[in-house]
Amino acid sequence: MTLRLDGVTVTYPDGADRRTVLHRVDLRVAAGEFLAVTGPSGSGKSTLLAVAGALLRPDTGQVHIGDAEITAASPRRAASIRRTRIGFVFQEANLLPALTALDQLLLVPTLAGDRPAHLRDRARRLLNDVGVAQRAHARSDHLSGGERQRVALARALMNEPTLLLVDEPTASIDHTQATTVVNLLAAQAHRHGCALVMVTHDATALSACDRTVELAELNQGPDGGAT
Ligand SMILES: Nc1ncnc2c1ncn2[C@@H]1O[C@H](COP(=O)(O)OP(=O)(O)OP(=O)(O)O)[C@@H](O)[C@H]1O
Ligand SMILES: [Mg+2]
Repeated sequence: MTLRLDGVTVTYPDGADRRTVLHRVDLRVAAGEFLAVTGPSGSGKSTLLAVAGALLRPDTGQVHIGDAEITAASPRRAASIRRTRIGFVFQEANLLPALTALDQLLLVPTLAGDRPAHLRDRARRLLNDVGVAQRAHARSDHLSGGERQRVALARALMNEPTLLLVDEPTASIDHTQATTVVNLLAAQAHRHGCALVMVTHDATALSACDRTVELAELNQGPDGGAT
């Protein structure tokens, strides 16, 4: 099992109180599985991805990626797992504005000491796969929202992740591009054996998934819908 959440609870400060967003969530995603997560705005979908991607430590519960328990890992070890095993595409593309599209893909692996020539080939191929090859040398703040989102996806694939976490990847792109992106995601799961969790409401994206869960179904107990 690539991703395993056991009894994960996350609360956020809410005035003087705390509000429970995830309540005793159990989730399994196998290698090669493409899972969609749906649910209303504010229901905790991005929070679920942040916990699965070792960006947010839950209040209670365990998260395993492969055989590594990331909830027990030091910050340094969690960062290493993120860099080597996880690809993350945030709801906002989170690109560095002054870097070109190509340099967005090269930055982290170059810092980590990988061979530049090999990386450049891979980066160009990925930009081509997501349909933005002709914008490879454009600064990211000159790209459209949909182009930025696709560059962010290409960047997430640079380290050949075993776990890919994608937040609304088709929200700002047209139907043709959405099909390209969704096919690329499905190929990551089905051909490369990546475990993939995608937050989406898009019918095109949902139709390519192996399984869909509603966030409320994952929550157990007093705050959730699956008591
Ligand atoms: N750092 C934070 N501090 C306090 N509350 C937060 C924080 N991050 C998120 N929340 C709240 O937790 C709830 C879940 O947020 P989350 O971003 O996970 O929702 P979502 O399902 O991804 O929503 P959307 O579909 O709008 O992206 C929301 O009510 C949000 O306001
Ligand atoms: Mg969200």
